Amino acid sequence: MFPPLVYVIVILIIALLNWLYSWRNPRCNGVLPPGSMGWPLLGESFSFFSRNTSFGIPPFVKDRMQRYGPVFKTSLVGRPVIVSTDADLNYLVFQQEGQLFQSWYPDTFTEIFGRQNVGSLHGFMYKYLKNMVLKLFGPESLKKMLVDVEQAANASLKRWSMEGVVDVKEATAKVMIFDLTAKKLISYDSESSSENLRESFVAFIQGLISFPLDIPGTAYHKCLKGRRQAMRLLKNMLQERRERPRKVQGDFFDYVLEELQREDTVLTEAIALDLMFVLLFASFETTSLALTLATKLLSDHPLVLKQMREEHDAIIKQKGDADSGLTWSDYKCMKLTFQVINETVRLANIVPGIFRKSLRETKFKGYTIPAGWAVMVCPPAVHLDPSKYKDPLDFNPWRWEASTHTQRVQGVKNFMAFGGGMRFCVGTDFTKVQMAVFLHCLVTKYKWDPIKGGNILRTPGLQFPDGFHIQLSERD
Ligand code: HEM
Ligand SMILES: *[C@@H]1O[C@H](CO)[C@@H](O)[C@H](O)[C@H]1NC(C)=O
Ligand SMILES: *[C@@H]1O[C@H](CO)[C@@H](O)[C@H](O)[C@H]1NC(C)=O
Ligand SMILES: *[C@@H]1O[C@H](CO)[C@@H](O)[C@H](O)[C@H]1NC(C)=O
Repeated sequence: MFPPLVYVIVILIIALLNWLYSWRNPRCNGVLPPGSMGWPLLGESFSFFSRNTSFGIPPFVKDRMQRYGPVFKTSLVGRPVIVSTDADLNYLVFQQEGQLFQSWYPDTFTEIFGRQNVGSLHGFMYKYLKNMVLKLFGPESLKKMLVDVEQAANASLKRWSMEGVVDVKEATAKVMIFDLTAKKLISYDSESSSENLRESFVAFIQGLISFPLDIPGTAYHKCLKGRRQAMRLLKNMLQERRERPRKVQGDFFDYVLEELQREDTVLTEAIALDLMFVLLFASFETTSLALTLATKLLSDHPLVLKQMREEHDAIIKQKGDADSGLTWSDYKCMKLTFQVINETVRLANIVPGIFRKSLRETKFKGYTIPAGWAVMVCPPAVHLDPSKYKDPLDFNPWRWEASTHTQRVQGVKNFMAFGGGMRFCVGTDFTKVQMAVFLHCLVTKYKWDPIKGGNILRTPGLQFPDGFHIQLSERD
C-alpha cells in the first residue's frame, strides 16, 4: 500500500480544505448576510485599507453595497464583521449599546489606545470616566473656555499671517492640542518643554488606520512607537506632579491625583493615562481635520465665505468693539457657521467606521448576526446617500436650513458624524466651539489664498497627504 507519509499528507490536505471551507462559510444558526470572507486570516483587509482620493462612499463599501445590498459580511484584520449601511440596523446597534451590542474595536486599536481606554470600558468604570470627561468638556466648562479658545485662535492667526505660507492642517493641529487641550489637561507648555509630545503624536497618527503589521519600517510599527513615547512622557509628567504638587489646583492632572489619593477610588494610574492619551489624540487629529477641510471648502465656495463673513461682521458690529471678546450668546448666534460645520463634518467622514461587538445572536430583516461577531456601522454610506442628502457630494450648507431639512435630518438615523446612542462623542460641543471661534477670527480679520495641497486621501481614514498651505493676510 502507500507509505505512511502519503496518509499524513492526505489528512493534512483534508484538514486544510475543511478549514478553508469553514473560513469561507462561517457557522450560523440562521442565514448570514451575503458577502465574502476573503482570504484566510487576511480576510478582505487589503481592499478595506486600499487608498482612494474621493469624497464618495469608500469603494470597498460601495462595491459590496451594489453586489450584496445594505448589510453584508466580510472579514477584517482576522475578525468576522457585519458591515451595516442600513439606517434601521445602525439605529438598533446604537440604541442597544450594552444590551445586544457593545463598543468594540479591533485588537490593533486596543493595542494602540491602551487596553483600558474609554472605548473599551463598559459599565461602571465607563460611566465614571465619561463623567470625568464631561466635567472637562461639558457646556459649563466650555462657557469658561470660550475666552481661551478665542485667544488661542487670535494669537495663532496673527502669527501665521506674519509667517508667510502656513499649512493649515499642521498649524491647526498644533493649536488644538498644545494651546488648548494639552494646557487644559496637563498644563503642557510646548515652548518650555524639552520632550517632544508633538513628534510622538505625528508618528502615532500616520500609522493609526494602517495595516497592522508590527515590523520595523511599517507605519503601524511607528505608530506603536509613537504611542510608547507619548505615554512615557505623560507618565513622567504625572510622576513629577505627584512629587511636586502645585498650590493652585487647576488642570486634569491635579484632578486625577486627587482622585487617586482617595481610598475608595476606582481610578488607576493606567486608566487615567490611557484616558489622557485618547483625549489628546481626539483633539489633535479630529478637529484639525475638520477645520482644514472647512477652510478648503470655504476657499472653493466664495459665496458661502461671503455670507459667513457677513454673519460674523454683524456680530462684531453689534458689539461695537472687535477686541472685546466673544460671549456665549454671540457664539449661539452663528447660524450659518453651524450649518457650515455640520456640512463639513458630513462630507469629511472623519470616522469611516464605528465598531461594535454583538453580545447575543440577533435577527435583523431575515438575517442572523451571530454572537461574538463585529458590526461596523458605516457613517459615509449614510451621509452620502442621495435619498437623504440631495446631490450628496455638493458642499451646500443651506441644506441644513431649519425649514427644509433639519427636521428630517435630525437624529441619529441620518447624521452620525459624532456617533450615536450612549457612546455619542463627548467632544462634540468642544469641537463646535473650537471650529466656530476659529472660523470667526479667520473670516473677520483675514483673507487667504490657497498655495498648495488641499487634496484629500482616504486610507480609509481622512488625510491631507500634502497638507493645505495658504497665505494669510489681514483684511483691509
Ligand atoms: C470633528 C471632530 C470629532 C469627530 C468627528 C468625532 C467623532 C466621534 C465618534 C464617531 C465617536 C463615537 C465612537 C463610537 O461610538 O465608538 C466619538 C467618541 C468619542 N470622542 Fe469624538 N469626535 C470628534 C472630536 C472629539 C474631541 C475634540 C474629543 C475630546 C475632547 C473627543 C472625544 C471623544 C471620546 C472620549 C469618545 C468616546 C466616548 C464614549 O465611548 O462614550 N472627540 N467621537
Ligand atoms: C476611487 O474610487 C472610485 C470608485 O468609487 C474609483 O473609480 C477610483 O478609481 C478610485 N481611485 C483611486 C485612486 O483608487
Ligand atoms: C487679538 O490679538 C490682538 C493682538 O494680536 C489683540 O490686540 C486683541 O486684543 C486680541 N483680541 C482678542 C479678542 O483676544
Ligand atoms: C447639525 O446637526 C445636528 C445633528 O443632527 C442637529 O441637531 C443640528 O440642529 C444641526 N445644526 C444645524 C445648524 O442645522
